[in-house]
Amino acid sequence: MGKFIVEGGRRLRGEIKIQGSKNSVLPILAACVLVDGVSVIHNCPLLSDTDVTIKILEHLGCSVMREGHTVTVDSTGVNAFDIPDTLMREMRSSVIFLGAIIGRSGRAEISTPGGCEIGLRPIDLHISSIKKFGVEIAEEHGRLECSVPDALRGTEITLAFPSVGATENIMLTAATARGTTTIINAAREPEISDLADFLNGCGARIHGGGEGIITVAGVDSLSGTEHTVIPDRIAAATYMFSAAMTHGTIILKDIIPAHIGPVFPVLEEAGCEINIKGRELELTAPPRIRRIHKISTMPYPGFPTDIQAPIMALTAVADGTSVIIENIFESRFKHVAELIRMGADIKTEGRMAVIQGVPYLTGASVVSPDLRGGSALVLAGLAAKGITEVSDIHHIDRGYESFEEILCALGASVKRKA
Ligand code: UD1
Repeated sequence: MGKFIVEGGRRLRGEIKIQGSKNSVLPILAACVLVDGVSVIHNCPLLSDTDVTIKILEHLGCSVMREGHTVTVDSTGVNAFDIPDTLMREMRSSVIFLGAIIGRSGRAEISTPGGCEIGLRPIDLHISSIKKFGVEIAEEHGRLECSVPDALRGTEITLAFPSVGATENIMLTAATARGTTTIINAAREPEISDLADFLNGCGARIHGGGEGIITVAGVDSLSGTEHTVIPDRIAAATYMFSAAMTHGTIILKDIIPAHIGPVFPVLEEAGCEINIKGRELELTAPPRIRRIHKISTMPYPGFPTDIQAPIMALTAVADGTSVIIENIFESRFKHVAELIRMGADIKTEGRMAVIQGVPYLTGASVVSPDLRGGSALVLAGLAAKGITEVSDIHHIDRGYESFEEILCALGASVKRKA
């Protein structure tokens, strides 16, 4: 399973380039299934989730070639419409293939993704939305069988919650449906705009990607294009926190500052100075982080749930009491017990955590509970006295490319042990 051995107490300083976005590359690679031709995707992060996505593409009959951070997908040979259970289990977000497979093949078969470590994560919004296109869906023995008796027809969908995955699945289903689809209360995350840009590059007609109302005028077919994935705003914020926790200074290159904007006021409240020049950002941390009065996770452009765990590690060593409210996922506090093992003073009640900052954390053996919870424990280790052993780091490898190498380049001591 692998471990990180983190020796704490080093101040992080330096300059890093930010990886391509995990949450963008997965739907964009899935969208390649809809394309009749060759798609070239640049800035693909080297992650285990990207590997699983490529395995699914190959299972579906695509021919995939990878050279560094460029992935070339030839979808002319698509000949399957199912995703095997083993691949679905490896990555819950495989559900994002549903719209693309239905659009391409007129049928799809996947297993239900089930629960996961950060909450139940149902797919009811995906299913009810896809049904509105005229898709029949039968759920039996943990498998979803989808068929299109007539043709996919554009529709109007109002989402009860601006789900990122459901918005993406609707866009994929709508891209080649007959007529126009309108999504009301669509998710506005930057990854949605990135998917819309890719699909439009392929000949789709999507307006409003990144806004609350998206319209998709269906086209007959999509052709290949070349696309560069946006920088990963979650990885960028994580590295900002790593410098903030160690009283360091960091320069992030190749970022889109507006995408990380929701994090700036919080870091400034903590006493950090942030300077932005074009696609570059410099953060300088104060000698002691100040408490952050209240952080509430919200859909974009609110504070991202994906960095709730890393910022909790930061507040654990802040001067004063901070409050975090997790509004997106119902069980995303699994890192709390591990932070407490390291000496953090955190109390939770339902969706709220109250963090009384301590002067320092102490190294301990902790278990990575999930992707972002795992990165939070590594950050805590960077600021702790002594050695921290973080196990189950396969979770971290799902989302951070060369995590330990980047942290070491900044002056940290993080070693990977098999
Ligand atoms: C995506 C991101 C994930 C991020 C999340 C919220 C990817 C691959 N993953 O996940 O990193 O944490 O957005 O920003 O892009 N929900 C339902 N029914 C549904 C769909 C969602 O109840 O059919 C609920 C979920 O359980 C959750 C909330 O809506 O409580 C948000 O989920 P959603 O926005 O769909 O997140 P994902 O697309 O799964």
